[in-house]
Amino acid sequence: MADTLLAGGTTVAGAVARGRDALAGAGCDTPRLDAELLLAEVLGVGRERLVLDRDSPLSAQARERYERLLARRELREPVAYILGRKEFRRITLEVDSRVLIPRPETELLVEVALGLPAGARVADVGTGSGAVALALKDERPDLVVRGLEVDPSALDVARANAARLELEVEFACSDLLDDGRYDAVLANLPYVAEGATLAPEIAHYEPPRALFAGADGLEVLRRLVTVSTSLAPPPGLVALEIGPEQAAEVSRLLRDAGSRAVTVRRDLAGHERVVAASW
Ligand SMILES: C[S@@+](CC[C@H](N)C(=O)[O-])C[C@H]1O[C@@H](n2cnc3c(N)ncnc32)[C@H](O)[C@@H]1O
Repeated sequence: MADTLLAGGTTVAGAVARGRDALAGAGCDTPRLDAELLLAEVLGVGRERLVLDRDSPLSAQARERYERLLARRELREPVAYILGRKEFRRITLEVDSRVLIPRPETELLVEVALGLPAGARVADVGTGSGAVALALKDERPDLVVRGLEVDPSALDVARANAARLELEVEFACSDLLDDGRYDAVLANLPYVAEGATLAPEIAHYEPPRALFAGADGLEVLRRLVTVSTSLAPPPGLVALEIGPEQAAEVSRLLRDAGSRAVTVRRDLAGHERVVAASW
């Protein structure tokens, strides 16, 4: 247990090693990395500094705080919630249990939108922390970006991120699309099937509304395809993040809705991750 880990006289290297062992014992996937991130946070330094300072002793106060953070991680609380932040493309978002922690694979959704024409109006549907909307505005300030979200508590997080990052993105509470006019619709909506087995970090800590979408995980995406493609005219681009095994069905939905070009993009791990359709 974390509270018995750190006896007096602990050095930085000793604290990392013992934190790593505790987190490995708790079943964490990346125990050393997690221990380093938590200790770096406590010491207010970058992770690389831990190597240079490996023989430095930890103060009693630092030991105590590190112990508290380790104990939370041992219960499998995600590191991003413990630190209260997550990097996403070029920005850092503040996150807490009101929002899904932005995933590296979702960066692909931003990448797909980087080719939009100047001044295009973009909706990020299910914006959560504001990750996609804010990262896109950061890289393409000429775009008019709006984040839409059904959960008002998530919207508070997105608005606070926009204010802190000084990015001009409007956010609105909406079940899928509002009545705005959009040239592009981007969405990382829930796509996990009800009853799926998830890691404790996800199942016990992330908001269920951000995860689950009916028996096959496609309930929300199906609805979004219907509402976005029945706009007149339809948006020039609809790009949707998908889960494993969903590319064929989502591509079919978009083709049936009249798209003239549907492509599936893979993420860095080689998984089919984004279906993009144009009109
Ligand atoms: C998978 S999370 C993604 C959050 C963010 N886009 C990201 O990539 O980090 C899905 C988000 O969609 C929101 N959501 C779920 N159903 C929705 C709906 N019908 N309309 C708008 N937002 C919805 C959830 O509250 C959650 O914030």
